[in-house]
Amino acid sequence: MTEIKPSKSAHPRNLGGGGERLDLAQMLSVELLQQVYAGSSLDAATLKAMTKLDALGPHLKAVCRDVCYGVLRHRGRIRALLTPLLRDDNTQELLKTLLEVAVYQIAYTRTASHAVVDHAVSSAGALAHPAVGGFINAVLRNFIRQREELELEANRTAEGRYSHPEWWVRRMKRDHPNHWKQILETAQTPPPLTLRVNERKTTREAYLNLLEQHSIEANPIGVSGVHLTHGVSVEHIPHFFDGWVSVQDAAAQWAGHLLAPKDGERILDACAAPGGKTAHLLELADIQLSALDHDSQRLERVKHNLDRLSLEATIVCADAAHLDAWWDGIAFDRILLDAPCTGSGVTRRHPDIRWLRRSADPSTMAVQQARILRALWRTLKPGGTLLFVTCSLFAEEGPKIVQGFLTEQDDARLIHIDSSKFEKGWIIPDVLHDGFFYAILKRSCKS
Ligand SMILES: C[S@@+](CC[C@H](N)C(=O)[O-])C[C@H]1O[C@@H](n2cnc3c(N)ncnc32)[C@H](O)[C@@H]1O
Repeated sequence: MTEIKPSKSAHPRNLGGGGERLDLAQMLSVELLQQVYAGSSLDAATLKAMTKLDALGPHLKAVCRDVCYGVLRHRGRIRALLTPLLRDDNTQELLKTLLEVAVYQIAYTRTASHAVVDHAVSSAGALAHPAVGGFINAVLRNFIRQREELELEANRTAEGRYSHPEWWVRRMKRDHPNHWKQILETAQTPPPLTLRVNERKTTREAYLNLLEQHSIEANPIGVSGVHLTHGVSVEHIPHFFDGWVSVQDAAAQWAGHLLAPKDGERILDACAAPGGKTAHLLELADIQLSALDHDSQRLERVKHNLDRLSLEATIVCADAAHLDAWWDGIAFDRILLDAPCTGSGVTRRHPDIRWLRRSADPSTMAVQQARILRALWRTLKPGGTLLFVTCSLFAEEGPKIVQGFLTEQDDARLIHIDSSKFEKGWIIPDVLHDGFFYAILKRSCKS
């Protein structure tokens, strides 16, 4: 489920009074969340349940989306609020998830509390047994009565305070001693909606004027970005389907500008899918671009994106590190390595990530990243540039990879990024940016 629209409009209003079946949205939310807790991504769970979601109708579908994102974004806090109310730990997981859904709706949305409780009692009956309705009712009424003390108590643990696992909070403190609070607090907010203007089709100024004519409030951001103040679905974004703009976070838009492709160059986008940065590189210059990824299904999305934008690249499906499988021996002028990572910089867009990852994952991903980086270096021309990117804020997946690489590779040099937006290669997430790490690596001319 791509959360393009910040969910303000999805917050249910006056539900419960008009006979709306909020219980149906609650039950489907429980089903989706249970799949996430069993290890699935929210996107995959949503895709599987699309028929059921569509059957809910647009409003309840939006409620379900808001609830799933909201519960995952605030789950640490919600669990801390619920724990003292569930004195014995034998409550079925299904009912715990239903309570998380109901507490989210009471604490974070404008839905009337009595409506949430009534519908949760019906949901419990349908999901488990009518007899458990009384238990759900009692827990939720206790929550409403004792909320003030429970909120104070929830602040005592890192998970309750910041809604990320304890190990995650510890790592953020270690890796970002000056910014860890900002990072964790930003992850609790809905993500911004940012567009990248395709300067082959229009200019940013002209597009801002067009948005104004459509009464869509927007501001410029970065080099070619436009931040929309309120959520708008893509069907209502002017000329979206003509390829005038793409949805891309402002921090991700730096990739194209930092790699700075020039006309006529041979360029590799090594981990390209779904193609956001691929398209940006092709918009910036007339280049010969190979877009490579090892996931054939995700590569279909690259093709789809390029078609919408009328752009062309050579699509290659292979493991980037297995040069024998895909490289023709002709070196690249520039390489973008947007490496697979934990995604710890984009947890407000994908709040499931923080509960799906394990503490060993950053080091495991780092091994993959180093493997791909070492292999690709051999395909870069002497004098060429490789841009290493991850959307992670763990040091293992950023500066530590680069330090290790520079130690072993004496023809590699790190180029300083001359922008106040960066701190030691990191873009620290804020209202308008996701969290990213960037390193520009230059290969010496002699090798
Ligand atoms: C961070 S995503 C890339 C996002 C993309 N650059 C964009 O801007 O839309 C990382 C990608 O790396 C791919 N990947 C992971 N391991 C790979 C490997 N060994 N070789 C090639 N692609 C790989 C994944 O399938 C995934 O699509």
